[in-house]
Amino acid sequence: MGIKSDFRGEEGVKKFLEDKRKKYEKMDDKEKKEFDKEALENPYLDSRIYHIAEDKEIKKVLVGIDIEPAELLMAKEIGDIDLIIAHHPFGKGLAYLAEVMDLQIDVLNFYGVPINIAEGLMKERISEVARGVNSANHQRTVDAAKILKINLINSHTPTDNLSAKFLKNLIEEKKPERISDLIDILMEIPEYKEAAKIGAGPKIFVGDKENRCGRIALTEITGGTEGSPKLYEKMANAGIGTVIGMHISEEHKKQADESHINVVIAGHISSDSLGMNLFLDELEKKGIEIIPCSGLTRVSRNQK
Ligand SMILES: [Fe+2]
Repeated sequence: MGIKSDFRGEEGVKKFLEDKRKKYEKMDDKEKKEFDKEALENPYLDSRIYHIAEDKEIKKVLVGIDIEPAELLMAKEIGDIDLIIAHHPFGKGLAYLAEVMDLQIDVLNFYGVPINIAEGLMKERISEVARGVNSANHQRTVDAAKILKINLINSHTPTDNLSAKFLKNLIEEKKPERISDLIDILMEIPEYKEAAKIGAGPKIFVGDKENRCGRIALTEITGGTEGSPKLYEKMANAGIGTVIGMHISEEHKKQADESHINVVIAGHISSDSLGMNLFLDELEKKGIEIIPCSGLTRVSRNQK
C-alpha cells in the first residue's frame, strides 16, 4: 500500500531499490557484510519487524503512534494482544530514518524544484537528521518487547504515504481557492475534526486565511521528517504558493515567511492517525480487531 501511494510512483520506487542493489553489488566483501540487506527489498527502512516472539495468527492488535515500554505493559494487562503496531520508528528503524528522506528529493522535483537544488539541499539535511537520531536510546522499546515476549512492528513512511496521497487527491478534487477554504476542507476529515476538539486542529502557521493558496504542495507529509529550511525560497521560485505539513520548526517557519509561502499545518498526530487508519481499515477487513492507543484517533472508513 505504501508503494502504491508513493509520490515517486511504483516505477520510481522500483528504480530506487535497483539503485541500492547496484551500489551493493559494487561493494567489497567487508562493506557487503556490514550492509543492511533489507535495504534491497524494503524501500522504507524506517518501517520494520523488530521482534517476533511467536509467529502466530494475528487476531487482535494494539496500535499506537508512539510505542514505549508503557504500551507494552498495557498490552500485557489487556491480555490477548497478538501484535503491537507502532507508527513512529525505534530501534533500527529510527537509526535508518534518514534513509527514507530521499523520497523528498523526487517529490520536490515533481513540484518543479530543479533536481540538483533539491538533491543538494536535501543531502545536507539528510546527514543532519542521521546525526540527530544517533544519540537516541534506540532499543529501549525493542528490549521491552523481547523481555515481555510481544510481537512488535512499525509502519512509518508507508502510512505517511497513504496520508499524503489521501490529502493530495482531496485537494485536487476540491481545488480550494483561499487558505480558509483549505482549512474548511481539512476540517471535514474526522481525524482533524477530533484533533481540533483538543486544540490540535489544522492551523495557519504562515500566511492569512484571506490569502489565495496558489499551487498547493504536499512536500511535508511524508519522507521521514522536515526537509531543509533553505528549500522554501526554491519552492517559491518553482511556483508553489502553499505548503501543507504535519509540523514545522521556527527556522522553517521564518524561511517560509520570507519566501511568501503559506504554510498550513494539518496536525502531526492527526495526520499520522489518518495514514495509519487507511492501513488499519485493510486489517479490519481481514477480521483483525484493532485497539487504538498512544494518540491514535481510530476512524474506520469501512462500510459497516
Ligand atoms: Fe509523525
